[in-house]
Amino acid sequence: MKILSVASEIYPLIKTGGLGDVVGALPLALTSHGMQVRTLVPGYPSVLSRLVKPKKVHAYDALFGASATILSAKVGDLDLYVLDCPAFFSREGGPYADWRGNEWNDNWRRFAALSCVGADIASGALKTWRPDLVHAHDWQAAMTPAYMRFGMAANIPKVVTIHNLAFQGRYGQDIFPQLGLPPEAWGVDGVEYYGGTGFLKAGLVSADAITTVSPTYAEEIRQPENGMGLDGLVTGRADRLHGILNGIDAALWDPATDPDLVRAFSHRSLAARKANRRAVEKRFGLKRDGAPLFVVVSRLTWQKGMDMLADAVDHLVGMGGKLAVLGSGDHPLEGAFLAAADRHRGRVGVQISYDETLAHLMQAGGDAILIPSRFEPCGLTQLYGLRYGCVPVVARVGGLADTVIDANEAAIASGAATGVQFGPPNPYQLRRAITRTIELHADRAAWTIMQRTGMRANFSWDRSAARYAALYRSLAA
Ligand code: ADP
Ligand code: GLC
Repeated sequence: MKILSVASEIYPLIKTGGLGDVVGALPLALTSHGMQVRTLVPGYPSVLSRLVKPKKVHAYDALFGASATILSAKVGDLDLYVLDCPAFFSREGGPYADWRGNEWNDNWRRFAALSCVGADIASGALKTWRPDLVHAHDWQAAMTPAYMRFGMAANIPKVVTIHNLAFQGRYGQDIFPQLGLPPEAWGVDGVEYYGGTGFLKAGLVSADAITTVSPTYAEEIRQPENGMGLDGLVTGRADRLHGILNGIDAALWDPATDPDLVRAFSHRSLAARKANRRAVEKRFGLKRDGAPLFVVVSRLTWQKGMDMLADAVDHLVGMGGKLAVLGSGDHPLEGAFLAAADRHRGRVGVQISYDETLAHLMQAGGDAILIPSRFEPCGLTQLYGLRYGCVPVVARVGGLADTVIDANEAAIASGAATGVQFGPPNPYQLRRAITRTIELHADRAAWTIMQRTGMRANFSWDRSAARYAALYRSLAA
């Protein structure tokens, strides 16, 4: 089967979070399930600069008023269609915002254009390739199914994956006339959403199947507390909703071969982690001692519970722990962590940036990775932590609940434990989890077993790719 995937990020060309990882890894995993995936992504500078001999396969004189071309290229094993539209995507800054974090004010137009092009490809705009199914990721691509449904597109199946319901692409009613959709697209069964325009909402009502990235999150978003206003819609379409756990790219995230590490290791050679630990301590200006080293690799946001963690730093240090934080996000939170590093020199280190190499090293050198998310559709850093022997300490929500086995008495006794879970996500329970982790770390034998059990768990894409493939086939049948 031929699949057109549409997304706003794809690793290794452009990534701000887990979406990029998934969009980059899933196509490769699907190959062995008989799927030929091509991915349509925006031509940001970082994407265009990586293309070797791209071919022009389609041109637009005026795509939402801008001239644009579709380029076809291969990067590594990924087959790409790149929407080269300088007016929309040739900008300094991130894919959604400028360097200061201010969202581009024409995001609705940029991603409506991407989606519109996805629908064009679906209806056979390219002479050489025509998909059997379209798979759109998150709100930035979610208008693709809407354009297909309300346009002239061929009637092929449409799948939308929710990576995070907190980001919905909500705009005013005023943009509707500029979207190029027929009047009947405005309405509760179309793009209208609480009186405005909803990109993700439009995708969810237009899709033949909705997937999200863990079974627990698929349940959670049907409840008002987690549905972010879409719980009614999601519940109404529950027969079409599937929770399929994300996998990890097991070649890219392999401590035995990872080029970003100071020293490679496996579950048989855990002692070799020490060199990586020293390197992390050096990078973050931390004391060299045996105290448990907690790491954080995260967007610094409310979703990730980073405000709770910033408040718990004094407790963590007071209990004898050390902390290394790599992240960026909300400016007040960045400030709170920098202040904590100032207060606890040698025990807390902070780097405000996005650094892929350092992220790998921290998983290899940290004792435990802290993920106190208030909600987490899947989460990938706990999976990387498991693979690298960096024990995940997680809130019991979403995909974190589905992937980490709490070190309770029974799980320790049976050797099943892989990390520490706490719930509900609040400051008190977070502090307790930190204390519990430090106590567990003191029992070296039990800790080592926990590390090894986590490292042997299989979170590769195989199983989940098979589920996507089965879904695609059932929709096409
Ligand atoms: P989310 O997509 O919600 O941010 P995930 O856990 O699914 O959360 O994915 C986050 C991804 O981004 C992981 O690959 C993680 O290693 C990476 N990441 C997050 N923050 C940073 C950072 N500051 N530097 C490098 N990588 C980061
Ligand atoms: C989103 C979610 C995260 C998930 C990722 C990839 O960014 O916040 O939990 O792992 O998408 O699906």
